[in-house]
Amino acid sequence: MAGESIAFVPTMGNLHAGHLQLVNAAKTQADRVVVSMFVNPTQFDEQGDYANYPRTEEADIDKLQALAVDVAYVPAVEEMYPDDILTKVSVSQVSDNYCGAARPGHFDGVATIVCKLFNIVQPDKVFFGEKDFQQLMVIRTMVADLNVPVEVVAVPTFRELDGLAMSSRNTYLSEAERQQAVQLYQALCQAKQAVLEQHKRFIEIERYYLQLLTGQGFEPDYFSICRRHDLQAATDGDKQLIILVAARLGKTRLIDNIQIDLTVGPLNY
Ligand code: PAF
Repeated sequence: MAGESIAFVPTMGNLHAGHLQLVNAAKTQADRVVVSMFVNPTQFDEQGDYANYPRTEEADIDKLQALAVDVAYVPAVEEMYPDDILTKVSVSQVSDNYCGAARPGHFDGVATIVCKLFNIVQPDKVFFGEKDFQQLMVIRTMVADLNVPVEVVAVPTFRELDGLAMSSRNTYLSEAERQQAVQLYQALCQAKQAVLEQHKRFIEIERYYLQLLTGQGFEPDYFSICRRHDLQAATDGDKQLIILVAARLGKTRLIDNIQIDLTVGPLNY
């Protein structure tokens, strides 16, 4: 309605408690909340991954109704991509490494669909989880560079009781893999402690945890200590850091991260 503020939560559906956390945050910050659910084909680098992505529309709608969301926007693929799309939004540098390198074209697909959704929904505020930290940076950069009139709100990662970051892809894990998956977050916590203690060089810490995860049965794409503001490799003087990790466990690709503030020292974090 005219004059009312709109908060927007873009999703690919298969809603879990982490998504609902985003919705709850959105509800506190605007008059109306819109949630989109669209499994976006252009951000998948593997056809099988797109075809198999969990689609649970009816259950998702029930969850959104229970939270009194104002609009659930569930466009069809033909509606979003009626013809071959000739325009792409491509955010260089922040998209280049980590998931961008491991999944060619992924962030172009994300930035393009998010830009389209912003233009359709015209929100005042948009909500993204920090679990996909590189995605968050891509969106923030696009919004700043293209003067998109929206405020990007980051919501902390929501975790299972044992620490595993919530993700729609966790449903792919077998029971044994699910038990094991928490080792990814444990590696991040231990590496954070190692960074805070400042006895080892970043590159040594990265190598150690890549080897550890490999030994535990993961196939890591990267385990990287980065500057938080631009995701470039961290160097000695940097204080605000983030460790980004992506690793396959069986057929499931998991991503996670942990933030580090080196101005506070090891005892205060
Ligand atoms: O994070 C996601 O679920 C997707 O990448 C997004 C932002 C909804 C774009 O399709």
